Amino acid sequence: MKGYIIGAHNMEKRWVFPLIISTLVCAFLLVTSFNMGLISSLHTINSIFSIIPTRLTGNQTDLVFVESKVSSIPPPPAGPTTPRFAYLVSGSKGDLDRLWRTLHALYHPRNHYIVHLDLESPAAERMELAARIEKDPLFSKVGNVDMIVKANMVTYRGPTMVANTLHACAILLKKNKEWDWFINLSASDYPLVTQDDILYTFTDLPRNLNFIEHTSRLGWKEGQRAKPLMIDPGLYLSRKKEVFWATEKRELPTAFKLFTGSAWMVLSREFVEYCVWGWDNLPRTLLMYYSNFVSSPEGYFQTVICNVPEFASTAANHDLHYISWDFPPKQHPHNLNLSDFSKMVGSNAPFGRKFKRNDPVLDKIDASLLKRKNGSFTPGGWCSGKPLCSDVGDNTNLKPGPGARRLNTLIDRIARSDLFFQNQCK
Ligand SMILES: *[C@@H]1O[C@H](CO)[C@@H](O)[C@H](O)[C@H]1NC(C)=O
Ligand SMILES: *[C@@H]1O[C@H](CO)[C@@H](O)[C@H](O)[C@H]1NC(C)=O
Ligand SMILES: *[C@@H]1O[C@H](CO)[C@@H](O)[C@H](O)[C@H]1NC(C)=O
Ligand SMILES: *[C@@H]1O[C@H](CO)[C@@H](O)[C@H](O)[C@H]1NC(C)=O
Repeated sequence: MKGYIIGAHNMEKRWVFPLIISTLVCAFLLVTSFNMGLISSLHTINSIFSIIPTRLTGNQTDLVFVESKVSSIPPPPAGPTTPRFAYLVSGSKGDLDRLWRTLHALYHPRNHYIVHLDLESPAAERMELAARIEKDPLFSKVGNVDMIVKANMVTYRGPTMVANTLHACAILLKKNKEWDWFINLSASDYPLVTQDDILYTFTDLPRNLNFIEHTSRLGWKEGQRAKPLMIDPGLYLSRKKEVFWATEKRELPTAFKLFTGSAWMVLSREFVEYCVWGWDNLPRTLLMYYSNFVSSPEGYFQTVICNVPEFASTAANHDLHYISWDFPPKQHPHNLNLSDFSKMVGSNAPFGRKFKRNDPVLDKIDASLLKRKNGSFTPGGWCSGKPLCSDVGDNTNLKPGPGARRLNTLIDRIARSDLFFQNQCK
């Protein structure tokens, strides 16, 4: 070990002189080009780099878990091209129609969609969904809507929910080489901006940014979530049952730090690849740890991201949802109705949850925010044909509306201000 260090040190010394020379040359060239006005688009360069996080938080020396390889991933370029999203929309028994409605409200030909009705929904309902997707002329033409046909058993509070999300991520990675962000929704969520609005706003964002609400202040969750051990029957039974508890408790982990937060998130492709491909062992270790943890969807991705410095520095602390929670413990969101409409819009969030099936407020969102007609897609720059949106024109043609302005205000606050660093993995 010692020899290795000395060797490395000598190697380093040999490089010091050329390094200093080349640094000086570079600095000279840079200063000259400044003076000659060669760097004309300095503003653009600045604006690209200003939101790429530069500060890291936490004690990085003790993160022996994380392979040093992580740092060799080059940051994805913040290109000006229009991004693509990969959506997972999942539901359960009886959710067919609202999942179908949410899918129409969210649809854009640039994106990829994967829908999932879990094993609790009857086979007939799942077959009906598959048939609708196959029969839809636009879906079959563009080919960007897929269904997880081999349905997963999902326990709402158990690790099977995380497994289902990772399953969808894996399929999306395998099927589509192009998407930039993964967004996890349920059939009871609904968009509050159009896809043109969100695609337009995300065009300027660094592709490695993650939106994930998180905190290390576990509060009551420390005693009621982190210490008890539970077993998810969804892992081995074919019928849905509640989780059951072990009598033993466990201590808080010392090998990594626990984080908790919202189960809704927008994850960068890079981070999803890290979690799914697992060439570093941390995501896998944590997956096993969380398999006995109640409400793991509110902790798994948060704990992974905050324990890897390279990814921690990309986390914006927000879930991009408007959710009206019950007073602490924040476990059951209220159903949103017409009385919540102005608060929803005022939050500037791109998604809201949760909505009762066909609640009148959904019609209001369709009419005044999305301009969507019953049974049709949310109109956007891509729409062509007669009736409008029955065919795909240019899918890079975005027509952002007032929703883009609202979303941009929110992004400014959570990803382009000091708040971004202040709230990161604390
Ligand atoms: C970081 O962790 C190491 C090892 O656990 C410890 O020795 C060191 O004091 C810590 N540094 C800070 C700044 O907390
Ligand atoms: C993903 O979405 C579902 C909604 O179907 C949600 O219940 C789940 O907790 C989400 N998050 C994760 C990490 O699986
Ligand atoms: C909306 O729900 C709240 C309770 O969550 C209720 O007090 C209110 O009257 C409802 N408003 C409408 C318009 O239904
Ligand atoms: C929307 O269309 C469905 C059938 O496509 C119909 O049952 C429903 O009544 C319509 N709703 C409105 C508000 O027109």
